[in-house]
Amino acid sequence: MSAVEIKPGVYWVGAVDWNVRQFHGPSFSTPRGTTYNAYLIVDDDITLVDTVHEPFTHVLIDHIAEIIDPTRITNIVVNHIELDHSGAFPAIMNLNPDANVFATKNGKDGLGKHFPGDWDIQTVKTGDTLITGSRTLQFIEAPMLHWPDSMFTFIPEDKLLLPNDAFGQHLATNKRFDDEVDRRILMDEAAKYYANILNPFSKLVARKLQEIQDLQLDIDMIAPSHGVIFRTDPEAILGAYERWASGVGQPKVVIAFETMWNSTSKLAHALLEGVTDAGVDGAIHQISRSDINTIATQIMEARAVFIGSSTINNDILPSVAPLLDEIVGLKLAGKQALAFGSQGWAGGAVRTIGDKLEKAGMQLAHEGYSVKWVPTDEELAAARTLGYEIASSILD
Ligand code: FEO
Repeated sequence: MSAVEIKPGVYWVGAVDWNVRQFHGPSFSTPRGTTYNAYLIVDDDITLVDTVHEPFTHVLIDHIAEIIDPTRITNIVVNHIELDHSGAFPAIMNLNPDANVFATKNGKDGLGKHFPGDWDIQTVKTGDTLITGSRTLQFIEAPMLHWPDSMFTFIPEDKLLLPNDAFGQHLATNKRFDDEVDRRILMDEAAKYYANILNPFSKLVARKLQEIQDLQLDIDMIAPSHGVIFRTDPEAILGAYERWASGVGQPKVVIAFETMWNSTSKLAHALLEGVTDAGVDGAIHQISRSDINTIATQIMEARAVFIGSSTINNDILPSVAPLLDEIVGLKLAGKQALAFGSQGWAGGAVRTIGDKLEKAGMQLAHEGYSVKWVPTDEELAAARTLGYEIASSILD
């Protein structure tokens, strides 16, 4: 990959990480890899917006060197201090010890903790600007999108928004723009990114989208710090964020279960048949065989979720716990929900699931559907009816 000019005088100088398969420790599966996007603005003053994950420092410097002498950087804007964007910061500072550094107050504090050193960091807030010659860099604080320090940089002369994590996707590709990749894959990855990183902060996302509207920013390109750049239809990703932040899903049911001797699996499939009878889109996952981040994404985009488990030791099967924890942690609230499962001599799993879903802010559509041992034909028919009734209730 070479540096790519995304606007006259503005260059992508980031790195593609083809092989990363887990992000944020083991919490986010990244089967399609990711990118760490940094941007170089060549004006009277030369400005670097963000850097890259530390192991890719040489890639960043090589890309900058394709355009200018890497020791000629005047300004470094740190939109976000997380290490996937700031890892190469010390190396860039070593090359440019007199560079002006700009970050939010939280950014300045955090940068000092990440990289103890005598950095001269200027703090900026929403409304502050930096003139680089023919351009004005306009800063917009964006706390919790994705960390307290995060901010966006907007360049009105280029109609270019650099929002760091927001609007990102974990998608490694040798293409840089939205119109060069498969649209469905792009939006699937954008949704997965939103569900697993930004959904807990949806109220703040909604407010930030409103603020962008109120500021009447004239945006024709959104260049995030992961994945590809939206140049053809930035409204599409803005609209998707509005929809995801609203918490209102599509008429769809996600069924996720774990089973011991196939009885809970039979219930799950009977529920899906009911969902199908109602003409509603349904997805089903055996949790231990599925990717939890993908299940979480589908739950975010759905209006109902059914979680099932056999009972063991008066509780859920262990593989169900991580999904329930994700639902709570990611604040996947406001869906119609059902707990179900098969039990032997004593129950417990259905109660645990129901309690956890309620705690997550789901609306239990039923007290919980539990059967003893192997479900009879009548019990399977009742599950099918239950699936039909709940699915019918979420139709427009
Ligand atoms: Fe891509 Fe919050 O770092």
